[in-house]
Amino acid sequence: MSFAFRLFPAAGDDMRADVLAGLAASPKAIPPKYFYDDAGCRLFESICAQPEYALYRTEQALMRERIGDIAAAVGEVDCIIEPGAGDCIKVRRLVDALRPGHLVSLDIAGAPLAAAAEALAHDYSGLAVTALGMDFIHDLEAAAPHLPPGKRLVYYPGSSIGNFPPDAATTLLARFRRLAGPGSQLLIGFDLRKDPLLLHAAYNDAAGVTAAFNLNLLARINRELDANFDLSRFRHYAFYNPTAGRIEVHLVSLAEQAVTVAGQRFRFNCGETLLTEYSYKFVPREFDALALAAGWQSKAGWEREGFAVRLYG
Ligand code: AVI
Repeated sequence: MSFAFRLFPAAGDDMRADVLAGLAASPKAIPPKYFYDDAGCRLFESICAQPEYALYRTEQALMRERIGDIAAAVGEVDCIIEPGAGDCIKVRRLVDALRPGHLVSLDIAGAPLAAAAEALAHDYSGLAVTALGMDFIHDLEAAAPHLPPGKRLVYYPGSSIGNFPPDAATTLLARFRRLAGPGSQLLIGFDLRKDPLLLHAAYNDAAGVTAAFNLNLLARINRELDANFDLSRFRHYAFYNPTAGRIEVHLVSLAEQAVTVAGQRFRFNCGETLLTEYSYKFVPREFDALALAAGWQSKAGWEREGFAVRLYG
């Protein structure tokens, strides 16, 4: 077994600065990457198991059914790089099919990543696994010294790209390309535009798990930034905006109130929103244009029930 873990300097200072800047902005907004503390990671796993949230299951089914075609289109690969690897479950199917020598997994949640990546290294004796606990949105370039030479495939599943506005998504894909280098490929999964009521239901599940996931952000800020958000005075509010082609996730203040965060005081009007997430939905042709603007040429694509996986090189 070959396994290495490297934890990059804690993102704590970034979180403090980002949250304070986001609360001072108009409209108020906090980046969605801060959803994922331990409780947030568990709640996200639970979202993926909700009947209304088809995204995860559909991607899994597509990958299961089409893995032969996907592996044939990708060809020989020496190293898979997975930003946002999380529990390292999705990449296993790709490792089985492509048999690379190396896997480099990146995630902002360092401790769960280390455990998942070590378990994976244990199960695949011929695979060298490097886990990098880093905020790759901030620190991606710092992964470069940890990449072995050879043919590289960046794997970015789960429609995580949809959580970035289009300009930021293009910038991130261009950074993936620079990191992976000439001759590399990108295999990416993203959610497609579809019946708005299906999308609405996916972010308003009946069990209230998405609401708990959204409100957990305030619980995390209370704990980590010495804040005093009263969670009962904020409402999870998510809807599909068909003009922009995105789900918008908000926490709406149910009262006029003041909140203290890291010693600074912020006022909320009754009905004022704190924007916590966008989740963009795509049309494949338009996604190809976005990828091309980042330097990636379309090579192949697969679709199932409103979800797409596409290969770029
Ligand atoms: C991680 N990301 C792709 C999820 C999404 O669907 O945008 C995060 C999520 N937010 C609420 N439900 C799921």
